[in-house]
Amino acid sequence: MGSLRTQVGIVGAGPAGLLLGHLLHLNGIDTVVVEARSRDYVIDRVRAGVLEQGTVDLLVALGVSTGLCRAGLRHEGLYVTFDGRRHRIDLADLTGGKAITIYGQNEVVRDLIDARSATTRPLYFGAEGVSVHGLETSKPVLRFQHGGTDHEVHCDFIAGCDGSHGICRPSIPAGAQTVYERVYPFGWLGILAEAAPSSDELVYTYHERGFALFSMRSPRITRLYLQVPADEPIESWSDEAIWDEMLTRMTTRDGWRPNVGRILQKSVTPMRSFVAAPMRYGRLFLAGDSAHIVPPTGAKGLNLAASDVLVLTRALRAFYEQGRTEWLDEYSNVCVRRVWRAQRFSWWMTSTLHRFPNESAFDHQRQIADLDYLTSSRAAMTSLAEQYVGLPAEVSFESAGLQLHTASR
Ligand code: FAD
Ligand code: PHB
Repeated sequence: MGSLRTQVGIVGAGPAGLLLGHLLHLNGIDTVVVEARSRDYVIDRVRAGVLEQGTVDLLVALGVSTGLCRAGLRHEGLYVTFDGRRHRIDLADLTGGKAITIYGQNEVVRDLIDARSATTRPLYFGAEGVSVHGLETSKPVLRFQHGGTDHEVHCDFIAGCDGSHGICRPSIPAGAQTVYERVYPFGWLGILAEAAPSSDELVYTYHERGFALFSMRSPRITRLYLQVPADEPIESWSDEAIWDEMLTRMTTRDGWRPNVGRILQKSVTPMRSFVAAPMRYGRLFLAGDSAHIVPPTGAKGLNLAASDVLVLTRALRAFYEQGRTEWLDEYSNVCVRRVWRAQRFSWWMTSTLHRFPNESAFDHQRQIADLDYLTSSRAAMTSLAEQYVGLPAEVSFESAGLQLHTASR
């Protein structure tokens, strides 16, 4: 049996766990990170791509932005298409110069793993049988097996950063949390294609046959999504059928369409909205997808994870430096307020841009009117823009022990 002692035990090496580990490292707080999957699996997993301005600023302030500054694609606008016409929303003009940056979540995770490795603080990949104990006590324990050995980590706190299928949230007794959930009757079929992006900015499309989204990962790789029925088996979509449907939904009246290329990866993601609150039980603090899930239409999931761990860092820093517990007590309230605003935005983007089974002709005309208003009113565009680039942070970087450097690009 290996017995370790740390200040904060972190379950999960996704964006939430790795960002938290690095934030705490910079504050001199010791952590052990335990991840169920292998290093390669975690890095290769294709997921989000849109970083809010605040998430970019956080990565810069953390000193893990070399790849981001080299390969991140700064976008100052996006397009919304309906009735075959593309309408540009000028994010920078509407928000006083803010923008989003396209940089794959897997690249963010790779950069953070490299930064963690350089600190030589422990990060266990391929951990089995992870479990948490003594959450109501001041010395919670994290147990797991690694390389055939049982490990026990004695902690002051445990951070549950283990995503929507992790073990931390289910370790909270029933009745100690309230769960809010909405399941959508569709999912997204996503592809990565070896094709140069034919637009410099994202295109969100509302089409009679359903939603479609044009995005990218690099000057050579296009990322595209299609609304499909919930639980659609990916095997029922040949590459030809995917391209036919993408082109049918996305080609605009002026002839714009995505470039076609070899499909490198394809998968279907179900869509749901989920919040479990409070995000704390005793000495266990949940962060990221372990506490909340948003449908990807608002591109908020990864950004919410980043904002949670910034709030948690402020609280842990105040505890270790000054023995103060009020920010720990406020952690859930501060995060949940932002979570609900992101939930509302993601729900609105999803409801406005997707076709729903059993929708009436009235519903359809209302959606068109919503999109017409959105793309013709500066007030409506400003509302979308300020939420899309990210609402102001709840806590300052300084309060989490970071110097504020704005992105150099
Ligand atoms: P995760 O990234 O899920 O990380 C949790 C980590 O914990 C994982 O590495 C997991 O292996 C590990 N873990 C799980 N159980 C255990 C355990 N028992 N012990 C130890 N470790 C464990 N958001 C967008 O904005 N745009 C998108 O296009 C988009 N696409 C998505 C596609 C999919 C399939 C999924 C699941 C999510 C997608 N999201 C998207 C959401 C976004 O990727 C998440 O919000 C983000 O990954 C949250 O980060 P996290 O660190 O909280 O959770
Ligand atoms: C992506 O590039 O993967 C992406 C972009 C915008 C979204 C969701 C996903 O809303």
